[in-house]
Formats: sequence, C-alpha cells, structure tokens
Amino acid sequence: MVERISIPDLLNEDRIIKICAPMVRYSRRAFRMLVRKYGCDLAYTPMIISNSFAQSKQCRDNEFQPHELDRPLVVQFAASNAKDFADATEIVFPDVDGVGLNCGCPQRWAMAEGYGAKLIKNPELVRDIIKTTRNRIPSNDFSISVKIRILETEEGTVDMCRQFESAGASYIAVHGRTTKERNQPPHYDIIKSIKDSVDIPVVANGGIKTPHDIERIHEITGVNGVMVAQGLLNNPAMFGGYEKTPVQCIEDWLSVTEQFETIFQHFHNHLIYMQKYTTPKWEKQVFNNLKHKKDILDYLSLKYEL
Ligand SMILES: Cc1cc2nc3c(=O)[nH]c(=O)nc-3n(C[C@H](O)[C@H](O)[C@H](O)COP(=O)(O)O)c2cc1C
Repeated sequence: MVERISIPDLLNEDRIIKICAPMVRYSRRAFRMLVRKYGCDLAYTPMIISNSFAQSKQCRDNEFQPHELDRPLVVQFAASNAKDFADATEIVFPDVDGVGLNCGCPQRWAMAEGYGAKLIKNPELVRDIIKTTRNRIPSNDFSISVKIRILETEEGTVDMCRQFESAGASYIAVHGRTTKERNQPPHYDIIKSIKDSVDIPVVANGGIKTPHDIERIHEITGVNGVMVAQGLLNNPAMFGGYEKTPVQCIEDWLSVTEQFETIFQHFHNHLIYMQKYTTPKWEKQVFNNLKHKKDILDYLSLKYEL
C-alpha cells in the first residue's frame, strides 16, 4: 500500500490545485498518467456504478486497476443509497486517496436510477451516504467528497453545501451549472458564494478551456482548486501552461499507452480530441477513419516526424 495523500491538505496548499475531472470512457488510467506529466495534481476515475462494482469482480477488473504511480486518485461512484456507496468505498480504500459521490450527472437514465443530479434534490440522502461511509472507513485522512451541480437558487445551493460540510464531506467540487444548463457560461458567482460560506475546500468546475481561464476563474471564485474535463481532452498539456496540444504530448501518449494497456478505441479517440484544433477538416476525416494502430502510428510518424 502506497502512503495515502490527504486531499484536503493538498487542496489547502497555497496555490491552485489542478484536477482532472471524472469522465466516463476517458479519464482512465493511461489518460490520467498523461495529464499527470503536465502538472495535474489530482485525478478522478470515470464514474463507476457502486453496486455493480461491489457485486461484480468483472466490473472491478474492468474499471479499477490501481497503480502506485497513479496517485493521488479519487474514485468516483454513482450511488442511490448509503450501503452501495460505503460497500464500494471499502473495496477501494486501501489503494486510493479518496472517493467522490456523483451528484451532478444530468442524464435521464442516471436520474431514473436515482443517481447523479437526482441526489441534489435529496440532500438528506447525500448526508446519510457521507455519514455512513465515514463511519465505516477507519481513517480520517481518507477523503469523501461530493461533486454537485448548482440548484436554481444561490441560497438553496449554499445551504445544501453547508449541509454536506456538516455531514463530514472532505471538500466539494462544484460544476457551476444547473441540471438543465448545458453550454452556457457557468455561474462562477455562485461558486464564490459557496467558497465564502463553508470552511472545507471548494473546487470550481465548468468552462475552463485555457491556462488563462485557470487563473481567471481562480481569481473570481477564490476556490482551492480547478477541475477540467473537456479542456483536458482537447489539450492534455493545458495544466502545463500550453495553449494547444504540443507534439511532445502526442509522443507522450504513445509511450504512456505502451506502458498502460489501452484499448484501440480509447487510444484513437484521445488522439482525435488532442488534434482537434491542430488538424484541418479533410485530414480529420482521414485520421478519424483509421482502423488499425499501425496505420495511426505511421500517420503520426509522417506528420510529426516522430
Ligand atoms: C466525455 C465526458 C464524460 C464525463 N463523465 C463524467 C463522469 O463520469 N462523472 C462526472 O461527475 N462528470 C462527468 N462529466 C462532466 C465533467 O466532469 C464536468 O463536470 C463537465 O464536463 C464540465 O466541465 P468542463 O467544462 O471542464 O468540461 C463528463 C464530461 C465529459 C465531457
């Protein structure tokens, strides 16, 4: 067991902590290792359904392969009750630094199962999940956090966050949009109000696309950390100060995926994202249709002289 890193202590350092967001299909181990090379301080797994994880070895083997270099790490679970979340947490406890409860996924299937953003409609249930899990885990250093979307009102959102704090949440990650909002600018003013109203660390998420955005949103909100999803897919080197994916980062992806097994589809999809802003449309059509790793490697070696 690698020594555990206290995530609240990390978030309380006197600098902006940079976090790779949970992303279904994408924030898997090889990608986490890539963004860590470029200054990512903390990474999340994709959302994992807690009861499948607790009950199925196949699910565990597919979704979770701990590695001593892949730290600090938060495993994000979807849960609709305290038992499922606590059972899943007990399994990952020896190998990671914390777990996060998904209280933000707005997809219809997830809400219908009682997961994701359904939970912000029932803060009492979230409190129960946090408290039950805290009582089961024999370490105060182990982080139990929530990732939320904001509610329709500022008062309601702040009150909800205070409730999660008093239940024992280690920190709160806030996607500054409501469940109904998609691409509109996030409400950073509400994230600031949350930060001003609780004593635990707060992380800002939503709409951070460039290194400049990191500074700007930190300044507006005063948060402890920033969390990025889409911006890191398009440019995994963003936390290192790069405006767009440098060729070195593409080369790093090739070596990371040699070391950490990655299925072809993920290997290819990440390269498609990384080259989104550096490849003309006609060339994208060619690249996106490549079907074999060898063809991709030949293409990259020709284009970038790798
Ligand atoms: C491909 C993709 C997959 C995502 N999967 C998850 C997930 O598993 N859990 C979660 O809480 N949010 C998930 N999200 C939402 C992001 O974590 C984040 O909250 C949202 O994209 C806003 O941040 P951004 O503007 O930096 O992209 C996903 C987003 C994307 C683009």
